[in-house]
Amino acid sequence: MKTALLGYGVVGSGTHALLDLRPEHGITAERVLVRRDIASVRAIATRDFSEILSDPSIETVVEVMGGEEPAFSYVKAALLAKKNVVTANKLMLSLHYAELISLARENGVHLAFSAAVGGGIPWLMNLLRVARVDTVESLGGIMNGTTNFILTAMQQGGADFAETLAEAQRLGYAEADPTADIDGLDVRAKLALSSDAAFSRMADASAIPTLGIRHITAADVALFKQLGLTCRLIGKAERTEAGVAAYVEPMLFSANAPEAGVNGTGNIISYRCAGLGAQSFFGLGAGQKPTASAVVQDLIDISRGATAFDLARCEGAFTPDASLAAHAYYLRANSLLPAAQIETALGETPAGPACITKPMPVSTMHAFVRERLAAGENVFAAGLTE
Ligand code: HSE
Repeated sequence: MKTALLGYGVVGSGTHALLDLRPEHGITAERVLVRRDIASVRAIATRDFSEILSDPSIETVVEVMGGEEPAFSYVKAALLAKKNVVTANKLMLSLHYAELISLARENGVHLAFSAAVGGGIPWLMNLLRVARVDTVESLGGIMNGTTNFILTAMQQGGADFAETLAEAQRLGYAEADPTADIDGLDVRAKLALSSDAAFSRMADASAIPTLGIRHITAADVALFKQLGLTCRLIGKAERTEAGVAAYVEPMLFSANAPEAGVNGTGNIISYRCAGLGAQSFFGLGAGQKPTASAVVQDLIDISRGATAFDLARCEGAFTPDASLAAHAYYLRANSLLPAAQIETALGETPAGPACITKPMPVSTMHAFVRERLAAGENVFAAGLTE
């Protein structure tokens, strides 16, 4: 099967290397769309996507450029030209999912995106398979390697957030613009994609309340350590009788929870099903080789005529409702909640007093934090797991 790579960054070059390493699958990268001259692929490079689109020998396009545009336009054009598409682009997919799934179906081609959630962890394919025979009651976990690296380093080294983020950037984990990672938007897109695999309907990502880790301080982390707790950024969706609750927020785990033991750029994502019970998948959720591995697995499946994504039902969209989930929170803010909502005062930190709240709807705490942040206050909240 002849393919074209759109992008030749970390994942694109890793995919090319893995295809070359495994010639027995008969999958080759014939063309590469680049934005700059790259000597190693000069012979097959182009800056003109139409050369790839109009080449009938290219059966499958691998979109590894990231961002919404021009990735979305290229993927759409490729599907309309009856080319299969493999993509790792969670942001673009979460914004245009239903349209792209329909286009793939109408044109009789495959759209596969194992690498979009969990990097090399076989998460979406197993979620799609289990949802064929079981009812998924909840799903979620650590879905972002960059923030997990930062939270682990803060816990282990005691440094402050800005210093740790700079270290993550120096090591090449965090992007120059780390907003999507540290504000939870990357997790939100991954949670929305997972919701279609689990519930056969796509969650409206913009309706998933999302708190990131931008405002965590070394003093917050020191308090967590005193309480025997570990902070992790979590995406979670739960089926309730009244609908699906979904949210992204930092959460605190006791030492015996699996999430507390997943360090560095690791991810752990779990589902709980009515019949099968709970299963967890953990490993490297980001990085060149893990992500390229997932991309190449999709290519091999396509070359053999089937992918896990052919199971996706995409029966419409839904608006998740975070008021359907409730738990207690750690809250550190200058304007604390009314006394009736506070369970335990934890005393002063350099950035304001901290407390543990009584259980409250997730939507209530997210609205409170958003309002205080908008007012210019430095606030950090983290959910407490039972
Ligand atoms: N920026 C993402 C992460 C890459 O850190 O997990 C993988 O989706």
